Amino acid sequence: MKKQILVTGGLGFIGSHTVVELIQENYEPVIVDNLCNSKTEVLNRIKKITGVKPEFIELDVRDEEKLSKVFASHNIFAVIHFAGLKAVGESVQKPQLYYDNNIGSTEVLLKVMDKYNVKNIVFSSSATVYGNPKRVPIYETDPVGEFTNPYAETKVRIEEMLIKLSKQDPKMNIAILRYFNPIGAHKSGLMGEDPRGIPNNLMPYVTQVAVGKLPELSIFGNDYPTKDGTGVRDYIHVVDLAIGHVLTLKKIEQNPGLVIYNLGTGVGTSVLELVHAFEEANGIKIAYKMVGRRPGDVPECYANADKAYRELGFKTKYNIVDCCRDSWNWQKNNPKGYDK
Ligand code: NAD
Ligand code: UD1
Repeated sequence: MKKQILVTGGLGFIGSHTVVELIQENYEPVIVDNLCNSKTEVLNRIKKITGVKPEFIELDVRDEEKLSKVFASHNIFAVIHFAGLKAVGESVQKPQLYYDNNIGSTEVLLKVMDKYNVKNIVFSSSATVYGNPKRVPIYETDPVGEFTNPYAETKVRIEEMLIKLSKQDPKMNIAILRYFNPIGAHKSGLMGEDPRGIPNNLMPYVTQVAVGKLPELSIFGNDYPTKDGTGVRDYIHVVDLAIGHVLTLKKIEQNPGLVIYNLGTGVGTSVLELVHAFEEANGIKIAYKMVGRRPGDVPECYANADKAYRELGFKTKYNIVDCCRDSWNWQKNNPKGYDK
């Protein structure tokens, strides 16, 4: 029998790509999502790619009653918990919303998992928990907790909650995955990132300049102590990241207790390098101008990804040029994202 995996936030950017990989690896994903940042059209795209339309229940993870019904009517082996709000700027404006949604939903989820004796959970954390890193590449053992905004604070608090739980209940298997910068899209061009309004993140901004929606990219700072003065990040293809979740489930099947992994490539890429890779991959010029630094940005952030390789066999397949090609393929085929 296929193992049922509850995927919270499974219609979102990373969740939807993970659902595809789960189906292809013979798991049975059950998606719950409140659609606050996603569309049901994703289900049709998943069907086109895999031939399977996964089960979807529209609910807010904070709704204990509805969530309990899902556990009562399924045989959930593990939960992958993607559901959450992720806009840093918005979190500064509306911190309470972020505490309620991100921390609140995790509290309810853990309570219901306990009630139904589900002991396995994979949590979407972020490199943001490292704050302004003391060194790069960043190791999992490096200091965590100097958050710079409420979004980051929610990730730190949830990690603490999970670590505490693992001590209280030795039967729990908990994987905390710290993602670096997910970009790219499914190679079919059927699924990708569909941000609302003007994008905050670099890659969706670049693709919207390429498609003519936005006039030019502003590069936030060219006076950082980096290779070319622009910010350096660890951009990871979303399909590589999705595969990382499948490998994590295989690990969970061995009852590892608490495990924490960086999911990144181990390679730092500057903003200018990314822009040039995009131009090279797609034969399109990206208009840009240099502007001041964005408050809260760190100069460099990239992973040491050895632990995930050693313990999960996780090794990224796609490089920055692949990411740029796939992001553009998605954007050009879907200039309005999932809207018709
Ligand atoms: P996303 O916004 O595309 O997906 C999140 C999904 O969760 C959306 O479909 C949204 O509708 C749903 N959701 C939000 N709150 C919910 C709730 N209370 N109940 C039910 N559904 C809810 O974001 P993503 O990029 O796919 O990110 C997934 C997870 O990974 C998030 O937890 C995010 O913080 C984390 N993460 C993302 C990045 C990134 O750059 N994309 C980096 C590090 C960590
Ligand atoms: C952002 C979030 C971080 C989250 C991460 C994961 C902020 C401050 N931080 O990080 O919490 O975990 O996404 O996706 O939002 N850049 C430009 N011009 C732009 C946009 C970005 O030059 O229009 C630069 C940034 O200064 C940075 C790089 O591009 O150097 C990447 O930026 P972005 O995609 O927003 O990601 P992060 O800042 O790493």
